[in-house]
Amino acid sequence: MADLDKPVPRDQEVLVKIHAASVNYGNLVLLKGKPYLARFAYGLLKPKHTVPGGDIAGQVEAVGKDVTQFRPGDNVYGDLSGCGWSGFAEYVSVPEKALTIKPANLTFKEAAAVPMAGVTALQALRNKGNIQAGQNVLIYGASGGVGTFAVQIAKSFGAEVTGLCSTRNLDILRTIGADPCHRLYKGGFRQKDREVCLILAVNGYQPISAYKRALKSNGTYVLSGGSGAQFTQAMVMGPWISFTGNKKMSSTAAEAKSGRPDLHERTY
Ligand SMILES: NC(=O)c1ccc[n+]([C@@H]2O[C@H](COP(=O)([O-])OP(=O)(O)OC[C@H]3O[C@@H](n4cnc5c(N)ncnc54)[C@H](OP(=O)(O)O)[C@@H]3O)[C@@H](O)[C@H]2O)c1
Repeated sequence: MADLDKPVPRDQEVLVKIHAASVNYGNLVLLKGKPYLARFAYGLLKPKHTVPGGDIAGQVEAVGKDVTQFRPGDNVYGDLSGCGWSGFAEYVSVPEKALTIKPANLTFKEAAAVPMAGVTALQALRNKGNIQAGQNVLIYGASGGVGTFAVQIAKSFGAEVTGLCSTRNLDILRTIGADPCHRLYKGGFRQKDREVCLILAVNGYQPISAYKRALKSNGTYVLSGGSGAQFTQAMVMGPWISFTGNKKMSSTAAEAKSGRPDLHERTY
């Protein structure tokens, strides 16, 4: 913990008094500098950003002279991972393009939980997975940050959703409307989950061949998180499998800046 000077907003910046911030895996990566590959983005020998904190919700306290979209008193939320982090502080000064007006029906705490995980889930299912009503969708790693959003978003598209997690969290999945499935099933897939239209791999590890087998013809697999090996396989082998067969295997990483319209409008 340290005392820092209160930031002063530049011309295009908004000074936000932070009411709530959420903790995502990305904060841990920033803090530990691991996996090492992340140091290219976050600082090779020491952290480029000394105050972590990506997702925030708060109130605008002051605005720079070129700011057009916000006024003092506005309640806002957003993902600061693309513009210097710093959400784990009392105040942050950020470019206005990082923020969106907070929906009135969300508390600050609820709003701060949405940006990174919610946008990751939405973009993975809608942009990469091209999710359609009536499809059966398997969310692998469904009970955590990204997964619980993914289950609910997939349901809102009219999909039939199976969520996979450990037994202790099966009730979470029932509460949010997924058909729960626990990890004890061999390979993570039950027989009835082997004819799936769309798989979102949120976490864990399965060889890409297992996901491919579980997909029906013309099915789509999208990876948004999980082990390094899972990522490497999706990035290296995914394009080749997609090119040579009738199943699409891809990976995705939501970008803070592309998420803003998704937080702003009800586009799904
Ligand atoms: N949170 C974000 O904003 C965000 C954004 C982009 C990418 N990601 C990436 O997405 C991944 C998950 O993040 P998260 O925030 O959703 O994490 P989280 O809240 O910790 O949730 C992890 C989920 O994965 C399940 N899980 C744990 N070990 C597993 C295994 N061996 N096999 C299958 N499932 C397993 C957990 O289920 P049980 O606990 O029930 O076992 C839980 O459903 C991470 O790799 C992260 O880097 C996260």
